[in-house]
Amino acid sequence: MKKLIVYYSMEGNSHFIAGKMAEKISADTLRLVPQKAYVDKGFAKFIWGGKSAVMAEKPKLMPYSVDFSLYDEIIIGFPIWASTITPPIRTFVCDNLNELKKKKISVYACQAGNGAEKAMAKLQALLGIDEFKATAVFIDPKTRPSEKNEKILDEFCNKIQGFFESDFARVDFIEKDNVVFHTWKKEAHFDDYRAPVTASLELLRAHKDSIFIVDARNGFEDTKEDVEWGFNYFLPEMKKTGCKLWGFILPEFSRIEGEIDLWTAEIEKNFRVIRGTSYDEVFKLASDCYEQ
Ligand SMILES: Cc1cc2nc3c(=O)[nH]c(=O)nc-3n(C[C@H](O)[C@H](O)[C@H](O)COP(=O)(O)O)c2cc1C
Repeated sequence: MKKLIVYYSMEGNSHFIAGKMAEKISADTLRLVPQKAYVDKGFAKFIWGGKSAVMAEKPKLMPYSVDFSLYDEIIIGFPIWASTITPPIRTFVCDNLNELKKKKISVYACQAGNGAEKAMAKLQALLGIDEFKATAVFIDPKTRPSEKNEKILDEFCNKIQGFFESDFARVDFIEKDNVVFHTWKKEAHFDDYRAPVTASLELLRAHKDSIFIVDARNGFEDTKEDVEWGFNYFLPEMKKTGCKLWGFILPEFSRIEGEIDLWTAEIEKNFRVIRGTSYDEVFKLASDCYEQ
């Protein structure tokens, strides 16, 4: 099944994100165009667009066609107008409500300052769904490009795809084994360490009672601040997920046995720890534990 990005953009920011996302997650795109164009210059654009948004107008759209049977996920993108959703999105949602309710929905908004949270709550109410799969808010990503916007986009795409990937780590959920599989590609510190670990935590929360397997052959944590964060935040949060088995893939003798012992002693207070030299070995040992 495929993913479709449906978006409206007046000044190109939401369009810019749609293009980048489409490439990253191989999604189709549909740009909504109102039949009567909004004023897009000067102060008048705020007056007319703002009024239309506040009045919850549903402007007629240029003809489009979507074969909803091709898509299991829809990503809706729009600029924030007067702290609410843009009218063309309202039209699209109201015209296709029954189809949209059957899909997983993610949403992104572009804004200059604030209002996205309110707007997303309104969109959620309009759709009548409990939650979005993923959300992201960008500050004028085309006109004010920033590293932060890039990072938000990467995290949003990872969440939609169900895995995390950075230069430092990759995290996947392996459905057939019920395993959250965290691979360190290289040593990571601070945000480079915490972002993938947080992604693992999210997957462990989403898949209750899964096994956590960490391939630590190419990296392991030893920065004091991160170890403290790991012990004081990550481990207690992980305990709440219901995960009981924690496997490490390591060489038989590692040059960092000291750090491994430090972590193992702390982890063993709440989890069963398994060690092996390959994914298959660790998974087999973990499965044997479940059967005991
Ligand atoms: C009519 C109108 C109302 C806007 N209201 C808001 C607002 O409430 N909060 C905000 O942060 N930005 C607001 N903006 C700025 C846009 O949301 C922002 O620049 C966005 O990135 C534009 O996206 P686009 O280029 O896809 O149209 C408004 C812009 C317009 C034209």
